[in-house]
Amino acid sequence: SPLEQPYRTAFHFQPPKNWMNDPNAPMYYNGVYHLFYQHNPNGPLFTVQMHWAHSVSLDLINWTHLDLALAPIHPFDINGCWSGSATILPENKPIILYTGIDSNNCQVQNLAVPKDPSDPYLHEWIKHTNNPVINLPNGILHDEFRDPSTAWLAHDGKWRIIVGSQKDKTGIAFLYHSTDLVNWSKHETPLYEVAGSGIWECVDFFPVLVDGKNGVDTSVVNMNGGVKHVLKVGMYDNVRDYYMIGDYDSVKEQYVAQNELTVDTLRLDYGKYYASKSFYDPVKNRRILMAWVNESDSEADVIAKGWSGVQSLPRSVWLDRNQKQLVQWPVEEIEMLHENEVGFQNKDLEGGSLVEIEGITAWQADATISFKLTNLEEAEELDPSGIDPQVLCSDMNASKKGKFGPFGLLALASHDLTEQTAIFFRVFQNNGKYTVVMCSDQSRSSTRNGIDKTTYGAFVDIDPQQEEISLRTLIDHSIVESFGGGGKTCITARVYPTLAIGEQAKLFAFNYGTESVVISDLKAWSVKKAQINIQETVICKD
Ligand code: FRU
Repeated sequence: SPLEQPYRTAFHFQPPKNWMNDPNAPMYYNGVYHLFYQHNPNGPLFTVQMHWAHSVSLDLINWTHLDLALAPIHPFDINGCWSGSATILPENKPIILYTGIDSNNCQVQNLAVPKDPSDPYLHEWIKHTNNPVINLPNGILHDEFRDPSTAWLAHDGKWRIIVGSQKDKTGIAFLYHSTDLVNWSKHETPLYEVAGSGIWECVDFFPVLVDGKNGVDTSVVNMNGGVKHVLKVGMYDNVRDYYMIGDYDSVKEQYVAQNELTVDTLRLDYGKYYASKSFYDPVKNRRILMAWVNESDSEADVIAKGWSGVQSLPRSVWLDRNQKQLVQWPVEEIEMLHENEVGFQNKDLEGGSLVEIEGITAWQADATISFKLTNLEEAEELDPSGIDPQVLCSDMNASKKGKFGPFGLLALASHDLTEQTAIFFRVFQNNGKYTVVMCSDQSRSSTRNGIDKTTYGAFVDIDPQQEEISLRTLIDHSIVESFGGGGKTCITARVYPTLAIGEQAKLFAFNYGTESVVISDLKAWSVKKAQINIQETVICKD
């Protein structure tokens, strides 16, 4: 019941029970969205003996739980069916490539195909007789070669995939070629490598349109300069998803990135968000991104709850107009769960004030707010170079008064604000240039101890002289997913309130800076419960 399980989500994907990590092989096929995921069917904790669980959806919001798709029972995966990706072949046939932990505890890559491609839900998957289709490369450690990407077809009629690895701390995306998806050969040079970054997991490589929000199929490689390519890597060393934007040339087999991959460069999300994977949705012409959001409570808490891990709400992803970063936004289908719209426009929010957003279920909500700033010459001075925004957000938490900021939302707040998750902005100036910092402060999110309440923070690349500063936050019991600047900066957090539960939870807009700001527009909705993997209880009568 909701009271016994206050942290189970209402519209974020999770299994009926037990452990979940990475999303695997998300895809659209014949009218149905499929999501597989790393799952321990026997308990709430991680195990190497991973299975692929499987759910299907018509709308990316409501999901039906199916039987396990892959189990670790063959010599080439007997110790675990690890992460992988789907590819829809031109003749409209899906395939899956995934990592198996074989009987020697070696990571190898395997192929699986649907038993009956005309089964609308693709219940059963057959592992190929040639498995493993890719063996460990020479000189790579047995447990450092995993997570094959979606395949793309290039000018020469050959398929390509990348697989994550490392050698002597250099993170590597190995590149493979194949004409039949069964026989693969390693290209002499990797698609990309970065010294010192450690092992890369769940690599994703996809094109984005230079102009527009639509997505394109993974096999679109050039389009006369109309696309750029994103290489996303999960860095195991710090459990973060980083990405680069660049140009891919399939003839030279070369990827030239326009930004470096270092710890302070582009991330898909600056909170808890890992092992993401994208796919092209041909129905709505968009690229969709999903990721694993793990727990912040303890192992004992996980055992008591009987489950661990949620998926982020699926997001559309596209290249920003400035071509320097990606933009993400919750899929529009979430709007079918909206009810009780409330809102107002052009309201002054004076320094040191807050206003409650009433009339919605604040523990299960979607809120958008935009702030207009005048008198920007009053902003505090800060030279942003060399500043780590996460450290800045931790030092200057939501209770530290500034000039412009902190202003934003207090989510999952108890009536006396003892508990609150604060998502807010601060604005600084330096030689006529403005810096916007976005923070998600979990330090007061729960009265409980023994929970990871790390504060997150990142810059938002907008100019407050030209644009309003917007924030959208999805609140769902124990997950708070925030999108700053129209989706330019995303921060996801997990929180475990004890007071701000159910009807007790409140939502506020606040401004604890000394300068007043204008809420130019606020809209908020209750979000109804989605139908997600609800386990039917069979009552046996004797
Ligand atoms: C990422 C990851 C993958 C691996 C899987 C195992 O979270 O470590 O590299 O395939 O999880 O469950």
